[in-house]
Amino acid sequence: MGTCEKKDAMDLLKFDGIHKSYTRGGMFGDRQRHAVLKGVHLSIAPGSCIGLLGRSGSGKSTLGRIALGIEAPDAGTVLYDGAAIDQMPAARFRDFRRNNQVVFQNSLGSVNPRFTAGQIVAEPLKNFKSSTAAALKEKINDLLTQVGLRREDADKYPHQFSGGELQRVCIARAIALNPRLIVLDEAVSSLDMVVQSRIIDLLMALRDAAGIAYLFISHDLRVLAKIADRLAVLHDGRIVEDVDLTEPRQQAYHPALIELIGAVLPPISEWSKRRNEAICV
Ligand SMILES: Nc1ncnc2c1ncn2[C@@H]1O[C@H](COP(=O)(O)OP(=O)(O)OP(=O)(O)O)[C@@H](O)[C@H]1O
Ligand SMILES: [Mg+2]
Repeated sequence: MGTCEKKDAMDLLKFDGIHKSYTRGGMFGDRQRHAVLKGVHLSIAPGSCIGLLGRSGSGKSTLGRIALGIEAPDAGTVLYDGAAIDQMPAARFRDFRRNNQVVFQNSLGSVNPRFTAGQIVAEPLKNFKSSTAAALKEKINDLLTQVGLRREDADKYPHQFSGGELQRVCIARAIALNPRLIVLDEAVSSLDMVVQSRIIDLLMALRDAAGIAYLFISHDLRVLAKIADRLAVLHDGRIVEDVDLTEPRQQAYHPALIELIGAVLPPISEWSKRRNEAICV
């Protein structure tokens, strides 16, 4: 599939100079603004996967929420298909929200415990599409099988799943409306390596089948090495490194990236070589 062909495609999502501050403190009247994002520029091409790295508290989840339109930046623009999301008419913004989904790390906390898996997966379908009860049931079955669960799982409640299974339910919910982008915020971090690897394979298969792009927030370099085409590093409020993992690279890496990858290398130059062989033949 064409990671190599897609380089010149129009950006699906683009962060153009995003700024975001939060107010800190306040108990003793010492409220201060804390600038988290200080001019973030980053583009996501259709069907691509960007790994977003950064130290804890660097603003990755904040940027993820801004990408989804859940939170507004103080300054700067998020462009979807070239259009600023804050200028969109309501119908277009709804379309943007429909096409941008999210999977969080804490799947138990992001589902309604009183809903069955079937109801959880059906939620976005009900909000956005009208269909008969029979068609809805068939669609739910389809989605559950796509993520490697069984039809019978539709009737189970969140506490009756393992962490990995529930994460699959959340992925099924995220793909229900055939989105163009999924923000995965530490979505596989709490899972063991075998389940992690299965979910990554599933995400890659979905990308190949449906051209979904991912903004993949993770501290785990092994995971990113497997799935990401690019690696963006958020440091001191800005993207200080944007490495194309499909190309060999000569220049030195930003110290913030070196600090993050530390001793965990395989060197990124090695990933590039491997990915080149795997992707561009
Ligand atoms: N709603 C909020 N109100 C106040 N401060 C916030 C809010 N959301 C985030 N912050 C602050 O913004 C900074 C960035 O938070 P964010 O959750 O985006 O970091 P992160 O890179 O995702 O970290 P981690 O890797 O630990 O998940 C932190 O200092 C956090 O305390
Ligand atoms: Mg976070």
